[in-house]
Amino acid sequence: MGGHTGIAETPQTRTMVVPRHLAVIMDGNGRWAKSRNLSRTQGHRQGVVAVREIVANAADLGIQYLTLFSFSSENWARPESEVRDLMGLLKLFIRKDLSTLDKQNVRVTVIGGRNGLAPDIVALLEEAESKTCKNTGLTLVIAFNYGARQELVETFQALAREVQAGRLAPDAIDEGMISASLYSAEIPDPDVILRTSGEQRLSNFLLWQAAYSEFIFVDCFWPDFDRRQLELALEEYGRRNRRFGGLAVDDLTDDAQVVATGS
Ligand code: IPE
Ligand code: IPE
Ligand code: MG
Repeated sequence: MGGHTGIAETPQTRTMVVPRHLAVIMDGNGRWAKSRNLSRTQGHRQGVVAVREIVANAADLGIQYLTLFSFSSENWARPESEVRDLMGLLKLFIRKDLSTLDKQNVRVTVIGGRNGLAPDIVALLEEAESKTCKNTGLTLVIAFNYGARQELVETFQALAREVQAGRLAPDAIDEGMISASLYSAEIPDPDVILRTSGEQRLSNFLLWQAAYSEFIFVDCFWPDFDRRQLELALEEYGRRNRRFGGLAVDDLTDDAQVVATGS
């Protein structure tokens, strides 16, 4: 099956395709711990080890943007002690890892609501962003206190205020303007959204940005997600055929190819 570059053709093909932007719903810390008779806290701690690993591997593979869903706007519904643990782990991660991330040339950026977060957490998130803002390697997008519906609500409120002030005509609002008003304004849409732990749902993650993402669901719990698991996921991505509403190259008739290339 020659003459075809990029995405692989057969289910047997084992070629990794490296996406520009990989977004990950890191799920299953609790079940990982339970299966080992450990506490949920220990599961989350092991989850941080897997975070370090995927950051290094993503950078090594040449992924440009890695988004990690670390705490959702709905996770406040968990017991207070678990919320405290998760906040503590984020602080620990930034305090311990920021200089390593900086040395790895990683640029950190954070998406999510800052209202409702403790001032010391906001300060650490801002420090992570400002310390690494000039780095040119992997962009690590930490989705923390993130909820896609809230992101859209804030975006629409901001645009409505512009309209009310007479600075924006309603008809001038287009898709690009909405994208540019999201927390993720500077970040391209994710090519792949990967979720671990066997759950197959978005849980309020990147609803607008996921319009044409490829979804990959894997059974392994987040703490078990290692280099090999990442490579398998990128092989799966390599077997996908992204059409964006058009036709795959192989499906184009000669006539259609003429239309598609405009010649
Ligand atoms: C993911 O693991 C971590 C967060 C949501 C913060 P979970 O804590 O959701 O683990 P399970 O789903 O209970 O196994
Ligand atoms: C999604 O996982 C949020 C994060 C991974 C941070 P959850 O475990 O919170 O999702 P649900 O509640 O099972 O949908
Ligand atoms: Mg979960």
